[in-house]
Amino acid sequence: MTDQTRIPVKPEIAQGASLDAAGFQAMTERARQDPDGFWAEEAKRIAWMKPPTIIKNSSFSGDVQIKWFEDGVLNASVSCLDRHLEERGDQTAIIWEGDDPGTDAKVTYRELHERVCRLANAMKALGVKKGDRVTLYLPMIVEAAVAMLACARIGAVHSIVFGGFSPDSLSTRLVDCESVLLITADEGRRGGRKVALKTNADEALKSAPLVQNVIVVKNTGGDVPMQAGRDHWYHDVTEAAPRECEPEPINAEDPLFILYTSGSTGKPKGVLHTTAGYLLWTAFTHQHVFDYRPGEVYWCTADVGWVTGHSYIVYGPLANGATTVMFEGVPNYPDNSRFWQVVDKHQVNIFYTAPTAIRALMRDGEGPVKKTSRKSIRILGSVGEPINPEAWLWYYRVVGEERCPIVDTWWQTETGGILISPLAAATELKPGSATLPLPGVLPALVDGEGQLLDGATEGNLVILDSWPGMMRTVFRDHERFIQTYFSTFPGKYFTGDGARRDEDGYYWITGRVDDVLNVSGHRMGTAEIESALVAHPKVAEAAVVGMPHDIKGQGIYAYVTLNAGEEPTDALRKELVAWVRKEIGPIASPDAIQWAPGLPKTRSGKIMRRILRKIAANETSALGDTSTLADPTVVEELIENRVG
Ligand code: WT7
Repeated sequence: MTDQTRIPVKPEIAQGASLDAAGFQAMTERARQDPDGFWAEEAKRIAWMKPPTIIKNSSFSGDVQIKWFEDGVLNASVSCLDRHLEERGDQTAIIWEGDDPGTDAKVTYRELHERVCRLANAMKALGVKKGDRVTLYLPMIVEAAVAMLACARIGAVHSIVFGGFSPDSLSTRLVDCESVLLITADEGRRGGRKVALKTNADEALKSAPLVQNVIVVKNTGGDVPMQAGRDHWYHDVTEAAPRECEPEPINAEDPLFILYTSGSTGKPKGVLHTTAGYLLWTAFTHQHVFDYRPGEVYWCTADVGWVTGHSYIVYGPLANGATTVMFEGVPNYPDNSRFWQVVDKHQVNIFYTAPTAIRALMRDGEGPVKKTSRKSIRILGSVGEPINPEAWLWYYRVVGEERCPIVDTWWQTETGGILISPLAAATELKPGSATLPLPGVLPALVDGEGQLLDGATEGNLVILDSWPGMMRTVFRDHERFIQTYFSTFPGKYFTGDGARRDEDGYYWITGRVDDVLNVSGHRMGTAEIESALVAHPKVAEAAVVGMPHDIKGQGIYAYVTLNAGEEPTDALRKELVAWVRKEIGPIASPDAIQWAPGLPKTRSGKIMRRILRKIAANETSALGDTSTLADPTVVEELIENRVG
């Protein structure tokens, strides 16, 4: 297999598609020539209370202002619920599949509408108003989708914190966006284990004084303390609430949600998405990338705590009137055939997962896959990190039996939805390539100085102009927004990724070029892990880099300098791993900790991460230029005592 391997669109896939190759080309052309006309037309795919007359108004220079459809008025929950009631009120909106294979549930659009209205009314009764922030700390249960849409219904801004985050991470996020309400559950379930959500929440709430109320879903029935006056059972407040709730009129540019994500520096940023452009983008991309057809069952295996869950479990699919699967569990519980059993059980037509899951399942061989049918699957998708050609081909051959195209979708929390990806029914595939930009997306490659590069080449991936679904700002920190995304290459949105473009114009994403790690498709800032480590009383200094990892894509390699007099023991190593888990969450657990008497620094005191990455990757024969090192012996010592 080489870069030259091409997989054309099969006629049976193209047949009846909403967009075939010619349609895609025509649409790309139209979006380029007349963006306003094109997006004005596309905007009709969402429901408006007052349709917009102004389409695009944005600038990537100066103060950076991004507005789409700015005089339009709508409510996102109407597009996802109300407008479907007449035609498909009794169609299943959400298929919930529990962690335990014996448990599942189906919720129709009509039922979902009622549940959303009840919770929206309950939130209002607790004093939540338009513009208020509401934090959700929930497992993968239907109530998570209900809570998102209930916030949208009343114009509250949701901020979801992944259920795997620690109390500390939760409280930082509660405080940063000044949430007035927290919605959580007694406990979650994952892989046969319980997750102590309410207990974590109680811990977090000690340092989040602005939270006035907590709504608690009784999920496992586990015994949890309820604080009178503050904590309310979800079933109590929703049962007491009316079943109809008028949707609040929301301006197109009013915020829909905040989602915290890690960058190369500082604490996580509150990525802010607004209403109309985001909703339009998720609906548009969900339909065309996956060639979603009415009546199909669509399953994205992500968690709603990440942007993939926001855009491609909830908003995009529901805006399109789809049947979307929400899975509480993990790929290997009770056994490593689970994904495919769920596919057969619910007759899933479109399956969207992460490369890390594919690589983990690949390791267990074809048996667990082959014992299931999977005949219902038409389209496969990949998201979250580069998918190596080996994993791509295994997914294609073993899972899809060479029937199903794989859409390798490149995007980010910041982009709101997919930007570079094949369209299932329109794009010739190359294993390992995210292929081409979607209509209206203008990617480019630049060198280190920001010079645009032409033709087949490699460089930093930037986007030249705005698209409706992009983030609008960092919550209450527009300066940081400009600094992070528009200052490296002024006038251009910098993605933080590197990419190669081949002679056909296909993009091959090579990964982050900044200090951001991608561990099992989860984004982690090295700075965050470092500050967790140095918060330990025995640690003087820490430097964290990524290292190649067969399953996770990247593992976390930490260099730790202890305070004078502290003993570098195995017990301390374990303690530090547990410490980071507690500070941030299990996803941030270091895979390797190396004791470092000193760190390689320049004479001006800057840590030379390039060298630390090479040592972690065991590429010590190619360290590159080391002439600026203040003390070269530090490096020799580190190479000698490399772990793993
Ligand atoms: C980073 C964004 C996309 C939603 C989930 C992750 C990497 C994402 C791909 C892909 C290569 C990818 C990039 C990006 N990434 N998808 N198909 N091929 N890399 O969102 O946590 O904001 O992370 O994930 O490095 O910058 P996120």
